[in-house]
Amino acid sequence: MRLDKFLVECGIGSRREVKDLVSRGQISVNKKICKNVQENINPDKDTVTYNSIDLIYKEFRYYVLYKIDGYVTATEDKKDSTVMELLPEWVVKKDLFPVGRLDKDTEGLLLFTNDGKLAHELTSPKKHVDKVYYAKLEETISSDDIQKLEKGVDIGGHITMPAKVEALSSNEINLTIREGKFHQVKKMLIAVNNKVTYLKRIKFGKLSLDNMKPGDVIEINKDDIYFL
Ligand code: URA
Repeated sequence: MRLDKFLVECGIGSRREVKDLVSRGQISVNKKICKNVQENINPDKDTVTYNSIDLIYKEFRYYVLYKIDGYVTATEDKKDSTVMELLPEWVVKKDLFPVGRLDKDTEGLLLFTNDGKLAHELTSPKKHVDKVYYAKLEETISSDDIQKLEKGVDIGGHITMPAKVEALSSNEINLTIREGKFHQVKKMLIAVNNKVTYLKRIKFGKLSLDNMKPGDVIEINKDDIYFL
């Protein structure tokens, strides 16, 4: 792999920026300064160093964000701030995108990757990836409503797949669903004459928000997600 491609893939900068770093002698290959961006390197064998840090090449990257209110799930938006703006500098943003979608006012677990195949598998309803949402409700929830939600409700022409409801108090639930229809949780609660006043995704398959605070980002491995 060419040195400039390697540096771009490691998130060091754009092609132009890394060319500049190389020509200024800021990059070493196997402890020797290398000023040739076209140098062929073997990411598995050669050690490339920048700012005294040995760079590690990863084809696929996986990050979990504890999303906060007020950001749309998109890579770009003309009007609103996007979840990309919540990712700190150390996150390698190249080709990165959010997996699935949380509403602007929904908080909680959002996965990012550049691995299109995995993203597709995780969002396919056929793969049955459980998503657990904590919801605060405007009205008290009855056991009859819980039964209806678990069996499936009509959310505008679509009958939802079986779900699981855990009542935490008279107006707080954990709802487990496998689909990801637009505004699904909010629409499910409307279908039983209630209203979600706060929504947070707490689990996505094997992943959970354990020990994370709002706004936190962690890097994870494919093994942390994979169970399909
Ligand atoms: N269901 C919703 O209604 N909103 C979300 O953000 C996620 C699931």
